[in-house]
Formats: sequence, C-alpha cells, structure tokens
Amino acid sequence: MITVAIDGPAGVGKSSTSRALARHFDLAYLDTGAMYRACALWCLQQGLDLDVDMPDERAIVESVGSLFTEDHLDMGLDPAAPSVSLDGRDVSQEIRSSRVSNHVSAVSSIPSVRRILIAAQRAYIAGQNEEDSFSQGRGIVAEGRDITTVVAPEAQVRVLLTAREDVRQARRAAQSKGASPTGAENLAARDAKDSKVTSFLQAADGVTTVDNSDLTFEQTLDVLVGLVQEAL
Ligand code: C5P
Repeated sequence: MITVAIDGPAGVGKSSTSRALARHFDLAYLDTGAMYRACALWCLQQGLDLDVDMPDERAIVESVGSLFTEDHLDMGLDPAAPSVSLDGRDVSQEIRSSRVSNHVSAVSSIPSVRRILIAAQRAYIAGQNEEDSFSQGRGIVAEGRDITTVVAPEAQVRVLLTAREDVRQARRAAQSKGASPTGAENLAARDAKDSKVTSFLQAADGVTTVDNSDLTFEQTLDVLVGLVQEAL
C-alpha cells in the first residue's frame, strides 16, 4: 500500500492539494496539522495558559497525553469528508480559528508532545488505528511539516510543496477573505517558530521539491498525480 508524504510551510495549499490527491487515488488522507491544532484547542479548553512566554510544558504534555490515552480525539480520514472531533463534537472549523493558529506552535514545539503525535500518526499511516475504518486496507496521503523526514521517511512518494512567501501570504489572505496584515504577519511568524523545530524549508535527500508559486491548483495537482503514478 502506498504512502504519500507531503510537507511544506503554511499557506502553500498543502491541505487542499493533498486532499484532492487522496480522492484522485482513493487513498486515506491525514492532516497532521489538524492533529496539532486539535491538541492546542484541547489545551485551551482545559484552561491552560498558552500566552505566557514559558507555558507550563508538563501540564501541556499531560493534557495532550490524556487526549490519546482517554480517546478524546477522533480523526476521520476519508478525503471526501475529513473530520476532527473532540469528545464527539466536530471541531474542524474551530481548529482553524486565529486563536488556535496563534497558539499551536507553543504546543507543537514541545518534544514530548511531538513524540505522542508522531506515534499516533504512524499508527494511522500503518492502518493500525482501529477506530478509523476508512484507512484500513488503503494507502494514505499524509501531510504536515515532518512527514517526509520523521513520521514516514520510508514513504514511496515524498514531496516538499513550497511557494514564495508573498504568494503564500496572498493565498492565505484570499482564503480568509481580506484578512488583516496581522494575519499575514502571523503566518510568517508561525513558519519562523515551526522551522526551529521541524525542517520543512529545504527538501531532505530523496524528497522532490514542487514549487507551485506560478502554478494553479489544478496544475499542482497534476504534478503530484504524475509523481504518484510513477510510484505505483
Ligand atoms: O498545517 P497547519 O498549518 O494546519 O499546521 C498547524 C501547526 O501544526 C503548524 O504551524 C505546526 O506548528 C504544527 N505542525 C507540526 N508538524 C506537523 C504538522 C503541523 O509541528 N507535521
């Protein structure tokens, strides 16, 4: 079964392209960013203060650990209707809020949090998450920041999807319909924080770089479809 790993910075169109790619080949789709976002939302819901300079790491790790050991998080991997639920409540929209976007790096930068999430992501990729019936017996497209390098370096297709920063900012602003300059600044700030922890600005050995600055969504998808077809 094929594993397709796609990494890249914020605003490059990873989620929409990866999802369309999964639908094209009838594969499962795992948005690992959504998992980190769900963790940040969960910590906020538990009343943890993520605004301070030095958030309480121990409390965050404990909280994220309970998310998995007590089964509060449920990821739906069908690319036709991907979903993220906390205690049975769909939070797919809420995890995209600027409140969560602005706090997610504080959670994702903690090594013990990453260890928990990487293990959970590997289980999804291996089709070993019994609660997700869609991914059983299917290959998967997994996207994030460290999929090609850490989570699934053995993937048959490994892509770094990238674009110039001005293009990414314009796309994200269009996505959030006239977002303020603060929105654009936050995107660059998030990339700066994230790139201290995961290396997604340069392709690792064996990873194909696809720069979609001058490509439409369909053209980007065509390139990725071609790469997967070569590997099948
Ligand atoms: O992809 P998305 O922008 O939704 O990711 C949200 C956040 O999750 C990133 O800013 C980063 O902090 C974290 N992340 C990560 N490793 C991944 C995917 C996402 O640290 N593989």
